[in-house]
Amino acid sequence: MRTMQFAIRPMIHDYDTFAAFEDAHVVGPRDLIFTQRILYKTFFSHTQAQTLFYDDFCDGEPTDIAVDAMLIDVRSRDFDRLIAIGGGSILDCAKVLALNSNESVDSLFAQGVQPRRKVELILSPTTCGTGSEVTCVSVFDFPETGSKMGKGFDAGFADHAVLIDEFLSKIPYQVFATSSADALVHALEIYLAPKANAYTDVFCLAAVQTILRGYKRMTELGPSVIREDAKAYLAASNMAGIALANILAGGVHAIAMHFGSEHHVPHGEVTRLFLPPVFKIYYEKAPNGKIADIANLIEEILGPCDPGCTPFDVLDELLAKVVPTRRLSEYGMDAGDANRYADKVIETQQRLLVNNYTPLSKTDIVQVYSQLM
Ligand SMILES: [Fe+2]
Repeated sequence: MRTMQFAIRPMIHDYDTFAAFEDAHVVGPRDLIFTQRILYKTFFSHTQAQTLFYDDFCDGEPTDIAVDAMLIDVRSRDFDRLIAIGGGSILDCAKVLALNSNESVDSLFAQGVQPRRKVELILSPTTCGTGSEVTCVSVFDFPETGSKMGKGFDAGFADHAVLIDEFLSKIPYQVFATSSADALVHALEIYLAPKANAYTDVFCLAAVQTILRGYKRMTELGPSVIREDAKAYLAASNMAGIALANILAGGVHAIAMHFGSEHHVPHGEVTRLFLPPVFKIYYEKAPNGKIADIANLIEEILGPCDPGCTPFDVLDELLAKVVPTRRLSEYGMDAGDANRYADKVIETQQRLLVNNYTPLSKTDIVQVYSQLM
């Protein structure tokens, strides 16, 4: 029997500035702000709250060892609310730092372990992509086992997700491009997922529409419009995150997860990389299903495609302008790796592959790699 469930967990707030957020939530010395030094210096160095800096523990994506060191620090402090301000990595760490437990990350990631929360949790994203502020999942790197692992904590849902436009005002272009592209991929993949429902559809279509319109505006007016469109991008990535909290992404993420960890390519870049070839295969296989809605939306926003082309070629061209990527060979892949990579994707990414619009065979996955070599 097919059942449907849909939830929006944290209360969502939107402020123009950090100062407005601080006033509204009466931020003070009983709060601990967990962030990066550069964000602190740029946006809120005057705060009365205590601070903890991610960059004192970690200079890339979080490892279990780095998060264990953060846990030791946080457990020695006295505070009532944890306010995490940063990209997906920082928000993912905060979900674990707010738990009521004395265990290490390794034990917390064991099956069935679900501690309650110790303090109130507020998550504020400074990129426009992961949607981590509205999901309960934390993804960490476990170098000893050579893999990235994600775990959803029941207590990982924040009490408040706070979108602050000001944080996008100084975002580096590459971070904007790859994070917003990841949100676009979330929305497109979940819209086509077999378990999608009327509620996820609304959030996904709104996110796709906003991001494509924003990208089009940017190709016409230049990257300075990102600042004007900040509120729209934050809302779009948040809406895609709401969909993601209910239904996982699919084949694009499955192929990207494996390639990203093999060649150390940032998440947003690698999901954007595999979007066009996977969607072109979907469109070839089943053009009359839900993908027709996406094709129509692309034509409505980006204009009709030339004879012999599909709307997904038009999308590919737009992405090439806004979020340029490299050939797979330039990331270090050999053509001879395609078979082995495809096997690995099928072996390790079933939890995502079940969300595909149409099944992707091994031959399809190999074809995706060869198109991008
Ligand atoms: Fe993603």
